[in-house]
Amino acid sequence: MTDETERLRDRVAVELERTRARTALLTDAVDDDDLVRQHSPLMSPLVWDLAHVGNQEELWLVRDVGGRDPVRRDIDELYDAFQHPRRDRPQLPLLGPVEARGYVRTVRDKVLDLLDAVPLEGRRLTTDAFAFGMIVQHEQQHDETMLATHQLRVGAPVLTAPSPPDAAVRVGDEVLIPGGPFTMGTSTEAWALDNERPAHTVDVPAFFMDAACVTNGEYARFIADGGYDQPRWWTPEGWEHRVRADLTAPMHWLRDRDWWAYTRFGRTEAVNPDEPVVHVCFHEAQAYAAWAGKRLPTEAEWEKAARFDPATGRSRRYPWGDEDPQEHHANLGQRHLAPAVAGAYPAGASPAGVHQLIGDVWEWTASDFAGYPGFAAFPYREYSEVFFGPKYKVLRGGSFGTDAAACRGTFRNWDYPIRRQIFSGLRCARDAHLSELG
Ligand SMILES: [Fe+2]
Repeated sequence: MTDETERLRDRVAVELERTRARTALLTDAVDDDDLVRQHSPLMSPLVWDLAHVGNQEELWLVRDVGGRDPVRRDIDELYDAFQHPRRDRPQLPLLGPVEARGYVRTVRDKVLDLLDAVPLEGRRLTTDAFAFGMIVQHEQQHDETMLATHQLRVGAPVLTAPSPPDAAVRVGDEVLIPGGPFTMGTSTEAWALDNERPAHTVDVPAFFMDAACVTNGEYARFIADGGYDQPRWWTPEGWEHRVRADLTAPMHWLRDRDWWAYTRFGRTEAVNPDEPVVHVCFHEAQAYAAWAGKRLPTEAEWEKAARFDPATGRSRRYPWGDEDPQEHHANLGQRHLAPAVAGAYPAGASPAGVHQLIGDVWEWTASDFAGYPGFAAFPYREYSEVFFGPKYKVLRGGSFGTDAAACRGTFRNWDYPIRRQIFSGLRCARDAHLSELG
């Protein structure tokens, strides 16, 4: 075994255990009643997420990669996300808290055992330990989903974390991103998922990208200006949803005399006008941008702003370069339970000076979720391909609840345009006019 393979095995073991510690934190923080209860019809009971994470790990790593006997073939159907919509999951004969914890432990022990034996080459699924990376990302994505469930849970607060850092620099208004081709997506990132592949050239005309995300204070001005009462800012589909769902403010906002209060993980406090707005749906994001005289960026514009380095003409892995995210780059990984204000992470800015593209809040883009030219489903169609089409909008950049393992400059998230229980905000863009190109 080469040193490199050994280092890869060590890295996989560290990532698996680091991720499981987060899952344990999110599921041990509540009592058994809260673990089996459904906190919102939009979400699974936390105990479903827990055993589902173990079941996916069993399917891919124990059975497929390891070629070992099933641990619990009898529960596969219960934890198949395509068989049962979230609202129906509480009625299923799910594993209880003790059984679920025992199950994920048994699966993990087998995985750590086979990690030492399985060759990390020869098969695409195991080359560069891809299947292990896929399972780490899957669990981290469910951890973010469980964090969103915590946000929907009613009751005394159970999660704590230090506040994110304050602004270290003043961030400007908007930045010109020069027109021309750039490389979007990746063919080289070892743990990138099928929908991020392959790398391809996209010609993006010059445009302006806001240097920071839209803040609560800016969004409150949209509300105060009657933004939710005027169909002209909304698309017909957005307005229909705005009326039907009776939207009047971001999710979790409550009117408090002439300002707003916000309940975050069980604590109610005044909305901080400087923080990025979060818990808005695509339609609200689109309406805000129209009111502001701007628009949402396309997905290609977002990625160009995040990755393109005009000095070299190449695309970076992250806005700051090719280095994996460190604590000073971005607000990721649930280290904090809130997005940070603009200017808190100057070391994470892009070459053009766009701040906090990674972390803090997911950013809605104008784009439908679609396969890149040359897309090939891997390792299964249900990972992304079945979601391609106009029903889903792409979000980019990750949130304070996204782990670095599940967030890259190329990483793509998608959801229905009416969803806002996720940690979603927005950043505006606008066309560049000839007279502004100098
Ligand atoms: Fe899943």
